[in-house]
Amino acid sequence: MKRIVLFASGSGSNVENIVHYFQDNSEVTIATVFTNKSDAKVLERCNRLKISSLYFNKTSFYDNDCILDILKGINPDLIILAGFLWKIPEKLVKNFPNKIVNIHPALLPKYGGKGMYGMNVHNAVKDNNEQETGITIHFVNENYDEGAIISQIKTKITPEDTPEDIAKKIHELEYEHFPKVIAQILHG
Ligand code: GAR
Repeated sequence: MKRIVLFASGSGSNVENIVHYFQDNSEVTIATVFTNKSDAKVLERCNRLKISSLYFNKTSFYDNDCILDILKGINPDLIILAGFLWKIPEKLVKNFPNKIVNIHPALLPKYGGKGMYGMNVHNAVKDNNEQETGITIHFVNENYDEGAIISQIKTKITPEDTPEDIAKKIHELEYEHFPKVIAQILHG
């Protein structure tokens, strides 16, 4: 049995999609969903989906080993960041080498780094009149959005597309590809 844990900071629509994708798979289990926001919509989704969830604060993530120890206890095969906005502390990267995977809503290395998340990314893509954007699935290292790239998938942007249209296109790509890429990583 492979164990996945998920980290999310907001809506959690990717979390829900990943849960649905693996729900009939007897070889993969979603152990817990971690969130750093006590009012994140992802918590409502977890309740509805009957998935265990855990809210944590800055102290337990950065200052002491609370979250690290919980993760060591779970011993996950993969830690998936699905819309998680805090920087991953070095101790986590060191303890779970090549096991932490992030999805970024643009074609890295463009539109990455601190502050580049969610609509900020799509607004910047629109402001620069890009003709394409996409998603990047990558391993996490000590620096924001700089770990080894696992997969990138592109989509076209028309001049009429608003940042909201771009966000929708990106979410569609994420729903289609992220769970499949997770399954591929899990099976080597
Ligand atoms: C997703 O588009 C994900 O790529 C992005 O946040 C969104 C979360 O949506 N992640 C980042 O921007 C990370 N820098 P969701 O909560 O509906 O899954």
